[in-house]
Amino acid sequence: MALKQGLFICFEGVEGSGKSTQSKLLYQYIKKNISKKVILTREPGGTKLSEKIRNFILNDKNNLDVVTEFLLIMAGRNEHVTKKINYYLKKKYIVICDRFFFSTLAYQHYLEKMNINFIYAIQKIIYPKLYPDITFLLDLNRLTSKIRINKRNKKRNKFDQLSNKKFNIIRKGFLKISKKYNKKIIKINSNQNISFIKKAVLNKTIEYINARS
Ligand code: TYD
Repeated sequence: MALKQGLFICFEGVEGSGKSTQSKLLYQYIKKNISKKVILTREPGGTKLSEKIRNFILNDKNNLDVVTEFLLIMAGRNEHVTKKINYYLKKKYIVICDRFFFSTLAYQHYLEKMNINFIYAIQKIIYPKLYPDITFLLDLNRLTSKIRINKRNKKRNKFDQLSNKKFNIIRKGFLKISKKYNKKIIKINSNQNISFIKKAVLNKTIEYINARS
């Protein structure tokens, strides 16, 4: 059965915080156990062109200028929002997205020091009306993040190789964002075990699903 209205759920956090794992677990749970239409997507990426942009950014060896990188991320987001996210929300799907706008604030504003008004201005032009209904912020300390990243088999991208200092700037950025948008962000201590976090995410999501059913 479809919801009365689409539901947009985002996961945010530092590298190694488990957002990809938790977004997949939530997606699989909804698909298997709750008869609601659901898709899982990610940023940067989510459409053919946006995935190309993602690969370009993550594998960039030329030290992209900060503004260029931001504009590429936003170009990818424009494609993603207009062609996929809005499309499925209109069809009353649950759309789960691994990273979204709060990552832009954490990385491009808090870390790269881009002017926040410029970021908001571009955001308002490309998707004036789209806000996540819930964002799960998975908060993690540096030590656990390093242990988790070192355990991964996949090739590391430039963001996986951040210094401790940069990691902490991004983490604090996310924490400031979670205070500012405290009604829409659920902060979860991601040093806890996977199934505990999964349950917390699920309980909150079910509340929202019930409210829209
Ligand atoms: P990430 O989603 O963490 O991929 P993986 O977990 O598979 O390594 O990597 C995406 C990177 O893109 C992440 O380090 C942060 C960066 N990013 C930004 O700088 N700005 C943004 O707006 C978004 C969405 C991501």
